[in-house]
Amino acid sequence: MARGVTVWFTGLSGAGKTTIARRVEAALRERGVPVELLDGDVVRQSLCRDLGFSREDRDRNIERVSFVAKLLTRHGVVVLAAFISPYRAAREAARREIGSFLEVYVKASLDTLVRRDVKGLYRKALAGEIRNFTGIDDPYEEPEQPDLVIETDHETEEESARRVIALLQERGFIEPVRAWPRST
Ligand code: ADX
Repeated sequence: MARGVTVWFTGLSGAGKTTIARRVEAALRERGVPVELLDGDVVRQSLCRDLGFSREDRDRNIERVSFVAKLLTRHGVVVLAAFISPYRAAREAARREIGSFLEVYVKASLDTLVRRDVKGLYRKALAGEIRNFTGIDDPYEEPEQPDLVIETDHETEEESARRVIALLQERGFIEPVRAWPRST
């Protein structure tokens, strides 16, 4: 059994939002929990294909995704939303709209991200080939009171995923894997 909720992963590009969300998705699916993943890179090829990276477009992106997440959440789905979502106000609006909402800050140092640079975008941003790149020449407003902080510099993907699942259990959105038999 599950209660609907949106787990909102926010953080810089390459910090590990998608990777962790995918692991959580697989674990929940295995348990029979209804789950959907909404991911920035995917959504930007479909629902938000028309949007760029100005503040206005990023806000629109988050607004559309929040709308979809709200519908799924109210039908009992655990929605995993992975978006940079750099603006605090947009994330707060998402929280208000969706209601049942947990904010997970996926944190990694810029040094690490530039070093890893999985998509090669930091190199381009630093070379001035891409403009308005979050963390380089565009802002990222850190969450002030996230429900969970995941530091991908210091923990494994598996540990991070486990901590998200533990959070869902603690807050009563999913049931613990095993109920230990009561000793009588
Ligand atoms: S958000 O700011 O609107 O929340 P979103 O998560 O959907 O961003 O998309 C981010 C992804 O778009 C990044 O992981 C990266 O692959 C790509 N991207 C392309 N240009 C930019 C840019 N200027 N800033 C950030 N990400 C960019």
